[in-house]
Amino acid sequence: MKGQFVSRAACALCATLALFATAPASAQQKIKVGLMLPYSGTYAALGNAITNGFKLAINEAGGKFSGREIEYFSVDDESEPAKAPDNVNKLIKRDNVDVVVGTVHSGVAIAMAKAARDNNALLIIPNAGADEITGPMCAPNIFRTSFSNSQPARAMGKVAAEKGHKTAVTLTWKYAAGEQSTGGFKETFEKGGGKVVKEMTLPFPNVEFQPFLTEIASLKPDAVYVFFAGAGAVKFVKDYAAAGLKEKIPLYGPGFLTDGTLEAQGDAAQGLLTTLHYADALDNPKNNAFRAAYKAAYKTEPDVYAMQGYDAGQLLAAGLKAVNGDTSKRDALIKAMESTKIDSPRGPFALSKAHNPVQDFYLRKVDGKENKAIGVAIKDLSDPAVGCKM
Ligand code: PHB
Repeated sequence: MKGQFVSRAACALCATLALFATAPASAQQKIKVGLMLPYSGTYAALGNAITNGFKLAINEAGGKFSGREIEYFSVDDESEPAKAPDNVNKLIKRDNVDVVVGTVHSGVAIAMAKAARDNNALLIIPNAGADEITGPMCAPNIFRTSFSNSQPARAMGKVAAEKGHKTAVTLTWKYAAGEQSTGGFKETFEKGGGKVVKEMTLPFPNVEFQPFLTEIASLKPDAVYVFFAGAGAVKFVKDYAAAGLKEKIPLYGPGFLTDGTLEAQGDAAQGLLTTLHYADALDNPKNNAFRAAYKAAYKTEPDVYAMQGYDAGQLLAAGLKAVNGDTSKRDALIKAMESTKIDSPRGPFALSKAHNPVQDFYLRKVDGKENKAIGVAIKDLSDPAVGCKM
């Protein structure tokens, strides 16, 4: 009787063990996605939009891959480079995630790329444009679905020179994104016959713009080019108009100056020209579907950050589908990700050898609550990827 019980119990155990032995180990576990983004501070709205866009794409792909569900782990990076190594290690070492997605701020992203290289962790960057990441720091396991900082800037420098402006002043936060952005503007503006007569900076995320506006008013350049984003962009555009400069000296920037910010900027932003790889009202089927789905899910309009997060989700989904959710097939996963053509709301794009989008940059004009494309400033622009050996 006792023996019979033992053998029946053992048999049940046998069956269970056999089941586990035949199913691939990975099928029993969730796929762990680490989101490292700013959820507080100047770039908080950007981090939230990226998160929303990413989750939308994963949900549209069915939310699971060969039975493996996605499990999210989140860290607020506060756009704080000094805290970045600890924050990214929480995801890579503590939570043992399969892929890290982040971030917005270039200084934080450089620390993340270093950690990804050191630990061979898969990293998808849905915004931060640090040129180094698809330059000397490029790696097979690092992808970017956004831009490199000099890309939109080079488009704007070209446009400003074509408009016949001869002199310009630049102003930005003093960190990689701002300096690479104003550098890209200077390169093409001067190539087109203009001259940057003064380059001004202030520390991130300061918004005491008054002394700089006073100096711009006295220098009287033909044009002003600035890199600001998030809450800083809202304040700069309002301060520029309030100082009476908007009607006197044209203000240009990469599209971050007016993206996700128009509600707060109101009249101060009307008519501003910027360049970016996205515009709100792009009339293509993917953008129309994306905007409708995003609005239905989150009751708010998407912006460039939501779109970049969405494409990060699409890129990961393409890779996971190719390996049937088996993240241990790392080489095949990477191969599928780097060779996929993303059907993006910005228009279809492929990745360069350095894993950065090769894409069109639109010239946009603020019209009401929209950044409307009024032309293409540069077609098929790839990032120079200087120093990338891959
Ligand atoms: C960056 O730090 O790379 C950055 C931040 C915000 C933007 C664009 C780039 O809107």
